[in-house]
Amino acid sequence: MEALEAIRRRRAVRTYTDRPVDDETLDRLLRLALVAPTGSGAQAWSLVVVRDEAVRRQVADLVIDGAGRYFAIMRPPADGHTAEQHAEWARGYAEQILATYRIAPVWIVAALVPRGNYPAQMAEGGHLDDLFSLAFAMENLFVAARAEGLGTVPTTAFQRFEKDRLREILGLPADVDPAIVTPLGYPEAFPEGLPPAIKKNRRTWRALVHDDRWGAVRA
Ligand SMILES: Cc1cc2nc3c(=O)[nH]c(=O)nc-3n(C[C@H](O)[C@H](O)[C@H](O)COP(=O)(O)O)c2cc1C
Repeated sequence: MEALEAIRRRRAVRTYTDRPVDDETLDRLLRLALVAPTGSGAQAWSLVVVRDEAVRRQVADLVIDGAGRYFAIMRPPADGHTAEQHAEWARGYAEQILATYRIAPVWIVAALVPRGNYPAQMAEGGHLDDLFSLAFAMENLFVAARAEGLGTVPTTAFQRFEKDRLREILGLPADVDPAIVTPLGYPEAFPEGLPPAIKKNRRTWRALVHDDRWGAVRA
């Protein structure tokens, strides 16, 4: 698939098969990720490629648990539900939509690795630049994966509750932040569009473009 088509057709994929990804394909994606622009040339990143079955399982469990906590916070409780009933619903919902994370053959953990190259007065901006750079690298990977028929989903929120446990699972130093994770695998199917709940609030690209001055949108 061509790059433009891959950009258009990349989607957040949340259902995977256990079909393996061969090493050559994986290496190609990793190299494409790491040619992304990097602020100050810092390369404040590393990609942990998780293929070991036991480790993958722990990462998937942690992400699914975190998704349950995320949905409990982000979704409103059903009428009359207690906090405990709502939390129970959220855990079940996460399990229902993400269960195949446990069989995805690869997880990529994109880690922010401080390089100590920003003076104190640039530390905050430098940190943001490092995060932007990591996100650019992962977008390269997401698009390249789509071109290869492989699914991914940028995941930043679900692991947020348990970063220390994730560090422990992967042996990451305390100052390394597993900021973005994704399963990588062949999907059951690529979603063609957005889920209805997201689609109904989606702005058109024209509504987000201002010509010359703020306010002159094209919509
Ligand atoms: C910064 C960022 C963080 C995200 N975090 C999560 C996440 O924690 N879990 C998840 O399932 N999806 C996550 N997503 C995926 C979005 O939900 C998804 O991109 C959005 O709904 C649009 O769908 P699309 O990627 O198919 O276009 C994240 C996306 C971005 C850009």
